Amino acid sequence: MIGIIGGTGVYEIVHHGRIKSRKTIRTPYGESPEISLFRLHDREVAFIPRHSPGHDSPPHMVNYRANIWALKELGVRQIIATNAVGSLDRNIKPGDLVVPHDFIDFTYSRPSTFYDERTVHVDMTEPYCSDIRSALTASSAAIDGGVYVCTEGPRFETPAEIKMFQVLGGTLVGMTGIPEAVLARELEMCYASICLVSNYAASISPTRLTIKEVFEVMEKRKEDLVGVIEDAVKRLDHD
Ligand code: HPA
Repeated sequence: MIGIIGGTGVYEIVHHGRIKSRKTIRTPYGESPEISLFRLHDREVAFIPRHSPGHDSPPHMVNYRANIWALKELGVRQIIATNAVGSLDRNIKPGDLVVPHDFIDFTYSRPSTFYDERTVHVDMTEPYCSDIRSALTASSAAIDGGVYVCTEGPRFETPAEIKMFQVLGGTLVGMTGIPEAVLARELEMCYASICLVSNYAASISPTRLTIKEVFEVMEKRKEDLVGVIEDAVKRLDHD
């Protein structure tokens, strides 16, 4: 089964008619948001809205462990996640889709592991799953590669922080990619993200940032984003 984690603005992925059932999973970390189950290109798919509409969890309060645990419980082995991001690179503009190959973690207050009781160090040499990354970039609608910098939020960044992220080699900045990617690795699921650039990062953008523009770009580009994901599902091998 393939899991799809919908970020800001992506609360559904198929027409309601195709949804077979909806489930909420009880996990050791609390209840998951409602997950939609359906078939797409001959694959079973489980769609989970990261922010749990209705509760509308902000990025630092998302129950990442419950979301990932619930997908594992359903038998998910591969996860495609969507994330809204700001761009740190003038060549990557609002509306672009990017599939990052690496990340830098600047979060600090989130439960970030399933392993609090024993010592487990997962390998992060290849932080995102290459099979899913290839499936997402095969159609050339998405830029292949980039370094995702995850901040704690929920505020946007300062100009000095953005300059630092650029010096460190960051390409994109967002608030929701971590610890999700790490938790998926801890449960041995193959995970990759497709990021939609909603704005140039603070101080690169000529205007102050608002969540309104994030939603506006999402709304404009959502159909293409969903198209790339559906195409990737078709390309992914059954395993
Ligand atoms: N910074 C952090 N997270 C974001 C941004 C940003 O500029 N845009 C969308 N999510």
